[in-house]
Amino acid sequence: MTAIDPGLPPTQVVAAIAMTHTPGLGDRMHVPPKGQIEKLLAGFAEAKSILSEARPELVVAFVNDHFDMYSLENMPTFSISVADEHFGPPEDAQAWLGMTRRSHRGNADYAMHLYRSAVVDGFDMTRSGSATFVHNILMPAKYILPDVDVPIVPIFVNCFAPPLPSFRRCYDLGRSIGRAIARRPERVALLASGGLSHWPPFAKEDGPRDDELNRRMLRIQRHGAVARREDPKVRDLIHEREAEMAASGRELINVAWDRALIDALARGDQEYFCRMNYDEVERDGGNGGHEMSMWLMILGALGNRPSRTLVYEPVKEWMGGVGVVAWDSSTRKG
Ligand SMILES: [Fe+2]
Repeated sequence: MTAIDPGLPPTQVVAAIAMTHTPGLGDRMHVPPKGQIEKLLAGFAEAKSILSEARPELVVAFVNDHFDMYSLENMPTFSISVADEHFGPPEDAQAWLGMTRRSHRGNADYAMHLYRSAVVDGFDMTRSGSATFVHNILMPAKYILPDVDVPIVPIFVNCFAPPLPSFRRCYDLGRSIGRAIARRPERVALLASGGLSHWPPFAKEDGPRDDELNRRMLRIQRHGAVARREDPKVRDLIHEREAEMAASGRELINVAWDRALIDALARGDQEYFCRMNYDEVERDGGNGGHEMSMWLMILGALGNRPSRTLVYEPVKEWMGGVGVVAWDSSTRKG
């Protein structure tokens, strides 16, 4: 598989991949039908081959946090981790992810460059230190990132605590990041992690309080990592709730919405995304659908280069659309 043509701007981006980070990819690979898993693994293998052959010097990752780093007490709209080292997974996620907490390489100098460029470009980016990696980074790391330990520069987008940045604002930030990448020599792979349509258990700040799990989730959302450490069983309870929801027969995947967004990426059509407002995404893509903002950021960074779909499967047992799209030379415009 060929990487992005290095002759096209921004020339430094040698590959780009967007993929879902559904928690089912951790310890529930045995649950969906075997045929679906085989198709997903083939898609992941192709993405990994694209990234490995592109030999990036670092990965700029558009990701979101799920109240592991940030909480309602401190919720940046956009942030970048200016650090040479990140850590993950946290202790309470080790069993579920099948991973042991370790250090992951970052690149403080490059992150500082992106941070400065974004602020100069009019984005009030928050500067953070070492990031906590959970499934947001570690699911792509497990399945598609090259085996060599390439430094990761994470850029976080608030996708769960309204008010969220609009899709258009995220697209514009992607464009700004693309321009910043073009001002440095390093060979960069872009990664977007999140989406597609899904309705994960989530306690709305102004939602009902009559549910014990909702109350515990809301406490974690309010107080972040400290509250998580005090209530380590919540992750297991969320997974149990997901299994109940998946078995309930409720429609928890919007296949038409997923396919329309993937098709829009394949056309390089940012306006299809940018026309959607918060309520429409919430209604059609679910509370997890806002994570598609990060796929759109790649489109911004690459100047609307059309993507190529490697795999899409609606996985009922994980209650979500699961997919991978790539930008490589075969998708080059004109
Ligand atoms: Fe997520």
